[in-house]
Amino acid sequence: MATIEINHLYKRYAKNKHTVVKDFHLEIKDKEFLVLVGPSGCGKSTMLRMIAGLEDVTEGEIYIGDTLVNDLPPKDRDIAMVFQNYALYPNLNVYENIAFGLRLRKLPKHEIDLAVKRAARILEIEPFLDRKPRQLSGGQRQRVALGRAIVRNPQVFLMDEPLSNLDAKLRMQMRTEIIKLHKSLKTTIVYVTHDQVEAMTMGDRIVVMKEGVIQQADTPESIYSKPNNTFVASFIGSLPMNFIKGRVLENIPGKLEFHTPRFSLNIPEIASNMLIKNKMVNRIVTLGIRPENMELGKAAEIAGIPGFHKYNELMGADRYLHLDIGQEQLLTIRASPEIQYVEDDLVYVTPNVSEALFFHFDTGERLS
Ligand SMILES: Nc1ncnc2c1ncn2[C@@H]1O[C@H](COP(=O)(O)OP(=O)(O)O)[C@@H](O)[C@H]1O
Ligand SMILES: [Mg+2]
Repeated sequence: MATIEINHLYKRYAKNKHTVVKDFHLEIKDKEFLVLVGPSGCGKSTMLRMIAGLEDVTEGEIYIGDTLVNDLPPKDRDIAMVFQNYALYPNLNVYENIAFGLRLRKLPKHEIDLAVKRAARILEIEPFLDRKPRQLSGGQRQRVALGRAIVRNPQVFLMDEPLSNLDAKLRMQMRTEIIKLHKSLKTTIVYVTHDQVEAMTMGDRIVVMKEGVIQQADTPESIYSKPNNTFVASFIGSLPMNFIKGRVLENIPGKLEFHTPRFSLNIPEIASNMLIKNKMVNRIVTLGIRPENMELGKAAEIAGIPGFHKYNELMGADRYLHLDIGQEQLLTIRASPEIQYVEDDLVYVTPNVSEALFFHFDTGERLS
């Protein structure tokens, strides 16, 4: 069993006054693939290094299985760590690099041989066992680093941005490899990345962090469809969610409208009831809507959001249009690649308001 229980964890570095990890509280399940994601500097590596025992805990507890590990040295925690810079020994060949940790532990030679060959088979690096790291591509080196972790047969794998040094195509391929690896090894993995695509595609569960604080811990589906706040909503998704500032008005009793100086939208019944319950009538809120939940309307139908085309980006099958909708706000929508506009063309957008989310204007918390 390799659950990891993290109880109200705090980290302050001695030379650094501010608290880098704040009240981190989470239970990681046995065999779970958990992804820690957030912008650079939010405390992901610090968190991982505390689980590994490479960094002291300032306050709180970490249990691996039933063992309180706060004061246990890394080698006694039954974990293996994989880093971004593969940290291979340049003078040793692939076989010796993978075998290194086992030799230190003085395992019998034939056991080492079996373990190295098994890892090499899983990772498909058998043909390279005699090569030195410099004779390998980036992807192959990262496989060797994974091999070194696998042979230790740990309860828990900790991975810190292991794919960041690879080019985009290889990164995609290695993503799949690591998912397969998790399925075959059936161990707990805690995987750190700043890349929301990696988080969304790899994690059984995602923990989004900001400034050392967990913003949300949930399945990829829930993180995407029910983000706790505007930070999560804008961090997750290949195009960030659009946010529009407006006031909730009740011009007809029971029927709410989202009102901005340039346009109004009818709010569907379910959202209306929710906003009434939250006492948001006559208050300013943030409406959040994803680019895929909006369509380009015809100029004639004035039902939608008028915007002035500012610039666009061709992304292969789609073209992303960025529209000025007033109050210094830009709206991004996904359109067909054939569409051509020049600057300041007037465009109408029809949002599917039933897919919109509403957030507290001040705190950014999602209203529910
Ligand atoms: N050894 C250290 N001493 C002081 N501050 C540190 C140390 N390591 C990291 N920090 C600070 O802690 C914060 C979180 O860093 P880190 O955990 O590396 O973030 P991430 O991995 O999410 O990019 C940053 O502000 C960083 O400057
Ligand atoms: Mg880091």
